[in-house]
Amino acid sequence: MNIKTDIVIIGSGVAALQAARVLSQRFDVHLVTKSEITNGSSYKAQGGIAAVTREDDHISYHISDTLMAGEHHHTEQNVETLVIQGKETIKQMINESFPTDRTPDGSISLGLEGAHSKPRIVHSGGDATGKALVDYLLTNLSEKVHIHSFEFAFELLLNQAGECIGVKTKTENQENCYFASYVILATGGAGALYACTSNVSNSYGDGIALAYLAGAEIADMEFIQFHPSLLYIDGKSRGLVSEAVRGEGGYFVDDNGRKIMQGIHPLGDLAPRHITAYEMYKERAKGNNVYVDISEINHFEDKFPTITKLCEEHGVSINEGRIPIAPGSHFLMGGVVADCYGRTSIPRLLAVGEVACTGVHGANRLASNSLLEGVTFGKLMAENLLTNGTIQQNFQPVKQQKKPFHLNLLSVRTLQNKMLELAGIVRDSEGLQSLIKQLPSFKIVRTLNTDSLCRNELELFFMHITATLIANAALARTESRGAHIRKDYKEISKTLGKQWIIFSKGTMNV
Ligand code: SIN
Repeated sequence: MNIKTDIVIIGSGVAALQAARVLSQRFDVHLVTKSEITNGSSYKAQGGIAAVTREDDHISYHISDTLMAGEHHHTEQNVETLVIQGKETIKQMINESFPTDRTPDGSISLGLEGAHSKPRIVHSGGDATGKALVDYLLTNLSEKVHIHSFEFAFELLLNQAGECIGVKTKTENQENCYFASYVILATGGAGALYACTSNVSNSYGDGIALAYLAGAEIADMEFIQFHPSLLYIDGKSRGLVSEAVRGEGGYFVDDNGRKIMQGIHPLGDLAPRHITAYEMYKERAKGNNVYVDISEINHFEDKFPTITKLCEEHGVSINEGRIPIAPGSHFLMGGVVADCYGRTSIPRLLAVGEVACTGVHGANRLASNSLLEGVTFGKLMAENLLTNGTIQQNFQPVKQQKKPFHLNLLSVRTLQNKMLELAGIVRDSEGLQSLIKQLPSFKIVRTLNTDSLCRNELELFFMHITATLIANAALARTESRGAHIRKDYKEISKTLGKQWIIFSKGTMNV
């Protein structure tokens, strides 16, 4: 089926829904998502939204916390925009009735998370902020937003002028083609490329592969954030144990009750996430079990109902006073290069939220800056289109000559295990080179004809594309910075801080 419209949004997290909400004031919007609408990682977000809301806080503190956590690999101008506009966006949402948790005196209850110098995490439903936010945005969607669930986007269409003019999708039994004045990627991250993740089980980085195949610039793929505390039972991660638990007085211990973070970092259990995740990794590599001790948190089940339920479902009683955990992949700092208005290197192709790389997270995202990014840049992008957007006239796609598809791909499980082992929390040249040999070359993948592939084969192919971008970027960054920890280059480089590793049209620029 062919559909002609104003805007196509691919994805259904907070960035997608926020954009859809604003864009529908002027445009007809089609929102395409590969699963059900509430399936994304946004919905599972626990901690909250970082924003300056209190008198004793200041945007300069939020900015410097963001830069410190991300080890100064940022686009500082965009960080400023995020924090300043974010403050206004959250204020507006609260005024418009987004429900936030309150203290007994009625003021906004603020949580504390890693690397924040002030409590500034706005939350809802205790630890169910993502769900509250998605539900809030969904109830405010107009009928000009048409939702297409269980539809997989597999090819961006470009015209002769190099503009993005649409996207091809597959459902269980049908292929569709959307032609639009703007295509917005809001597909989220790629946590599920790893065997142990806090993300939904199909967050494979499809949007990045899609954009890469179309020739868009992709950057910072080496920066994968691992969260230190995923509930870990019988050798499997079972969901997130929010950093907000440590903000309320929880701390990491080993089997003997030793406080693991003591003496490691001045911020202790609330050190930046790459530091706590690395310490948990090292403990587990020594054969030790690790836990979050919650024995000193009063009314845990009221403050963290989602985590309490998650623990109970997996046979862990919070009355035991500690929750078994392990680190797991959580957030991708890199992605499709975009500015604060979502504009990518391809005209009329926009990217927003985790799929985008705007330089606001540097080498390691500050806790709870991701929901902030989704709602803030989703709004900025949409408002910019409301004012400056133009209608496309040239919907003639160019067809490229491609070679027959001939790759042998790894299974999903094998790929996830290899990513964790060879491109996980700690990497080195030897491991990355061996991984790269088992993945398709990032140059070759752009030359292949995928017409014969079914939906699941396309998804697996896209996983391999995103994985090869991560592995190659990780090999090229010869330093340890933020979430990119190299065994063979342990130090932070004095010169590489501002350097981005960018893929574009089949080449890698370092
Ligand atoms: C958490 O609740 O620990 C995660 C929040 C985030 O990723 O920002």
